[in-house]
Amino acid sequence: SNAASVLVASNRGPVSYVLDETGQLTARRGGGGLVSGLSAIGPDTDAVWVCSALNDSDREAVRRTAGRLDPADTGGQRVRMLDIDAQVHADAYNGIANSVLWFVHHMLYQTPLEPVFDAEFRRQWAAYETYNRAFAEALAEEAAEGAAVLVQDYHLTLTPRMLRELRPDLRIGHFSHTPWAPPEYFRLLPDDIAAQVLGGILGADRAAFLTQRWADAFTDCCHAVLGPGIPSGTRIGVHGLGADAEFLRGRAHRPDVDERMRALREQIGSAPDGTPRKSIVRVDRTELSKNIVRGLLAYEELLRSRPEWRERVVHVAFAYPSRQDLAVYRDYTAEVQRMAAEINSRYGTPGWTPVELHVKDDFARSLAAYRLADVALVNPIRDGMNLVAKEVPVVSDEGCVLVLSREAGAYEELGEDAVTVNPYDIVRTARALHEALSMSPAERAERTKRLAAQATALPPARWFLDQLAALEG
Ligand code: G6P
Repeated sequence: SNAASVLVASNRGPVSYVLDETGQLTARRGGGGLVSGLSAIGPDTDAVWVCSALNDSDREAVRRTAGRLDPADTGGQRVRMLDIDAQVHADAYNGIANSVLWFVHHMLYQTPLEPVFDAEFRRQWAAYETYNRAFAEALAEEAAEGAAVLVQDYHLTLTPRMLRELRPDLRIGHFSHTPWAPPEYFRLLPDDIAAQVLGGILGADRAAFLTQRWADAFTDCCHAVLGPGIPSGTRIGVHGLGADAEFLRGRAHRPDVDERMRALREQIGSAPDGTPRKSIVRVDRTELSKNIVRGLLAYEELLRSRPEWRERVVHVAFAYPSRQDLAVYRDYTAEVQRMAAEINSRYGTPGWTPVELHVKDDFARSLAAYRLADVALVNPIRDGMNLVAKEVPVVSDEGCVLVLSREAGAYEELGEDAVTVNPYDIVRTARALHEALSMSPAERAERTKRLAAQATALPPARWFLDQLAALEG
C-alpha cells in the first residue's frame, strides 16, 4: 500500500479484537485519553496509525489481514497493527511501561519496598528496547519522504531516536499523555535508563505535553540527568487536549443512552419523603492513580459527618477493569469492591444502597450518568489531563458540580469553576462533596456553562492538527 505523509504510533490502537468460539472477530474501541484524542485523525486523511496487537485475538486479526486492519473495523482509519512477540510485548507493556514508567510519572511507588531494579528489570528493559525498535522499523517502512510522525506516550520513549537514525528525513514528534515526574522522583530510575528515556524522546524534533507543568518537569529532568545545555535541537510544546463537544452531544442523545438514564434514575431512587436522591458520579478505569478508594473513603466521611445526606444521595461509581494482568491492579480492583461493600453494609438501609458500583464497561451508561449527575468526583492522585472532568460539563442536562483534584492536568483549565481538592485529604474531600451537593441550581448551571466552554476550547481535531502544524515550524 502507498506510503503515508502523516503517521501516528501508539501501543493501543483505535480498536482491539475479541475472537468468539465460531472464529468471528469483533472490533471494540479502546478506553483512555490517548485513543479519544487520536480518534480525531479522521478517515479522510491518508494518515496511518501504527499500533501493537495487545492479545491473541488482535494477533489473529493481524494474521488474517497481514497487519493492515479492515477499514470497516476502524471507521475508515488506516491502521497497521504490529504482531510483536507476546512475551516481548508483556515485558515491555506490563513490565516496563505500566509497572515502571507509569509508576514513576504518577509517583505510585511505595518507596520503602519499591522499586527494585534488579536483573529481571534489566531483562524486561531489553524487551522494551526490542518493542520500541519494532515500531521504529514499521514507521520507517510506512513513511513517505519527509513525512510527519507523531509518536505517543511512555510506551514509546525510545522510538523517536531509533527512527531518526533509520530515517533522518522524517519530522518526528513525541507526545506524553501522562504527567511527567519531577527530577527527584524521576531519578529513582537507574541513571543509564533515565538517560536513555530522555535521550530517546530528545531524538524527536519536538516533545509535547498536556500541560506546562509536565513540560517543565521534563525540562528539569533533562537538566538533572543529562546536564545543562540539553535539550539541544528538540523543541518543547504544550497541547491541552479537550473534549469533542459535537461527538459527545450527539452520542449522548441516542435512544440507548436515554434508556440507561431511566434505569439509572430508578436505581438512584427517591428518599423516604419522596424527593429524588442526588447522585455523585465517577467514571474511571480501575486505575491506581485515579484514587477511587480515597473517593469512597471521602464519601463515607460525608455520610458519617453529615448524617442529613443519608438516604438522600447515591454514589454511582463506574470503575472499569484495566491492566488486569498486573497483580497490583487486581488487588486494587478487589479493594474498591471491598470498600464499596463495606460502606453499603455499614450505612445501607432496606430501601437505600449508598454506593452503586459498576464494573462492566459501558460507554452509553457512562454518558447517561454524565447527563444526570448532580456532582462528578474526579480526584486522581496525579493525572496527565483527565477527560472525564471535561466530558461531564459538556453533556450534563441540568448542570453538574465538578469536584476536581488539583493534581489533574485539567485543573489548570477548570480549577476556577470546580470545587477543588487535595486528593489525599479525605475530610476536605468530604467537605467539598457537601459543598457541591448543596450548591444552588443557578450557580451550578452557571459554573457548568463556563466549564463546558473551557473543556471544549481545544477539541481533539485541533489538538492533532496543532501538533502537525508545530512540527512544520
Ligand atoms: C492512559 C495512557 C494511554 C493508555 C490508556 C489506557 O490514558 O496515557 O497510553 O492507552 O491510559 O491504558 P491501557 O493500558 O489500557 O492502554
